[in-house]
Amino acid sequence: MCRTQAFVSLLLLGLKLPEAKSDCEFVESENLCVCSLLKESQMDNLFECFQATTYELRGGNLEKFAIFSDLTPSPYVLDILTALHVRKLVFTDLLVPEVILPGALEFASHPPLLSEIEFVNCTFLRRAGWSYPRRLSPLNVSSLRFHRVTADSLADRRNDLSSLTRWLETLENLTLTDSKVTSIPCKIGQMFTGLHRLDVSGNHFQDGSMRSSLCQGAFPGLQELRLHHNRLTSYDAVCETVVPLNMLMHLDLSQNDFPPGFSSSSQCTWPQSLRVLNLSSTGLKHVEWSLPPNMEILDLSGNSISTLDLSLPALKELHLSNNRLQTVPSVKKLPRLEVLSVDRNQISHLPSQSLLQLKHLQLLKASHNLYDCSCPYIKELQDLASKPSLLASWPHNYTCQTPPSYRDSLVKDMSPSTLQCNKAPLLQGSAVILLSSLHLLLCLFLI
Ligand SMILES: *[C@@H]1O[C@H](CO)[C@@H](O)[C@H](O)[C@H]1NC(C)=O
Ligand SMILES: *[C@@H]1O[C@H](CO)[C@@H](O)[C@H](O)[C@H]1NC(C)=O
Ligand SMILES: *[C@@H]1O[C@H](CO)[C@@H](O)[C@H](O)[C@H]1NC(C)=O
Ligand SMILES: *[C@@H]1O[C@H](CO)[C@@H](O)[C@H](O)[C@H]1NC(C)=O
Ligand SMILES: *[C@@H]1O[C@H](CO)[C@@H](O)[C@H](O)[C@H]1NC(C)=O
Repeated sequence: MCRTQAFVSLLLLGLKLPEAKSDCEFVESENLCVCSLLKESQMDNLFECFQATTYELRGGNLEKFAIFSDLTPSPYVLDILTALHVRKLVFTDLLVPEVILPGALEFASHPPLLSEIEFVNCTFLRRAGWSYPRRLSPLNVSSLRFHRVTADSLADRRNDLSSLTRWLETLENLTLTDSKVTSIPCKIGQMFTGLHRLDVSGNHFQDGSMRSSLCQGAFPGLQELRLHHNRLTSYDAVCETVVPLNMLMHLDLSQNDFPPGFSSSSQCTWPQSLRVLNLSSTGLKHVEWSLPPNMEILDLSGNSISTLDLSLPALKELHLSNNRLQTVPSVKKLPRLEVLSVDRNQISHLPSQSLLQLKHLQLLKASHNLYDCSCPYIKELQDLASKPSLLASWPHNYTCQTPPSYRDSLVKDMSPSTLQCNKAPLLQGSAVILLSSLHLLLCLFLI
């Protein structure tokens, strides 16, 4: 009984009984088995846990297990590990002494389907003078994620990690977010030869440390780089840093404090492989630089852009929400556009003709603007609205700003008859009649 009780924590940690006591719960909807070291053993759901594909160990201090650093799983345990369907291991809210990691990794190399390991809100404790053993079993893990973790500096980890080289070479996804990281040592970056996706959002990378982290030969196969919410301040520096990444397709620079414009004197051109560029909330005022012709998604939302002139023949999505546009930018040179967001700007009317000429346009987000609901414009808006599911969230939050008598009314409620649009020619007509009568009268007097 005791064996089974502690089975999951044994699985997760590679620890021997009876120290690993935990309470496990099976969450069927997510195929998840959550075990807590903080609670005492309860047996109820353990057998269900055998079906789980994700195992999570949540809450506690693993220091007391530090003595089990050198561990070889018994054949009995190996059989169980191999029979399990586990794809993902998650460690949450834990204090983790690094000495147990080699043992845990040794265990983790056995479940054949295991492909993801995650550490969330964990503190890694490193014992002075300790380093990783020379040889570790290769892992078949393709994604490794650290979120809100604290550890000693990476700077002197090169030797530690060299024992993991074979594993790091096959890793495809590395996420290291919200962990106050300032840089990745160049030599470590060079070990990740197979990495496709690197996410270091929410850290403290600066222009210089970014450049040294992406040194020559580091992350050579990178296709996606996320630098959201760091401390970058220069487009030029970022651009020059990513130029050697000739497979880079997706670059996220959102929420960094860049200067308002990209200096047009810059010689740097973005990698031609780039397809997705996220510059949302970066303080942009002008977009003057040339973008690779094959760009497919461009996010410029949350900036201070008031005019824009783009020519991108392959562009599918253009996001301009939350800017200072007073008119919709020309879409003539964006023939493949499918999604256009211009909501939360200061736009007074939508150029329905040129928009409706876009053959591929599927979604137009244009709420929260300052619409002019006078006769000529109301028709344009309603033409667009009459195309099924084109205008996002229509009619909510599409309101008139002018004429003053209709301020805050919904555009939808402004029918041409309410606005007396059709009466306009009649009014004009009566004015003409009036004028000509006056003229006649004048003539009469003059005679
Ligand atoms: C993070 O983990 C620590 C234990 O390592 C825990 O005390 C704390 O409550 C956790 N914080 C959050 C936000 O989960
Ligand atoms: C690694 O996992 C994949 C499935 O994700 C599997 O096809 C492959 O055989 C595994 N390789 C090893 C060495 O276990
Ligand atoms: C890498 O991460 C992306 C995005 O989260 C995901 O779509 C992809 O399946 C992951 N690849 C692997 C091999 O785990
Ligand atoms: C760009 O980044 C922001 C976060 O800053 C995110 O909300 C948005 O979805 C991203 N845009 C695209 C097109 O992925
Ligand atoms: C209009 O937008 C506001 C946010 O600005 C939102 O809270 C509200 O639900 C929207 N109204 C409708 C009817 O969608």
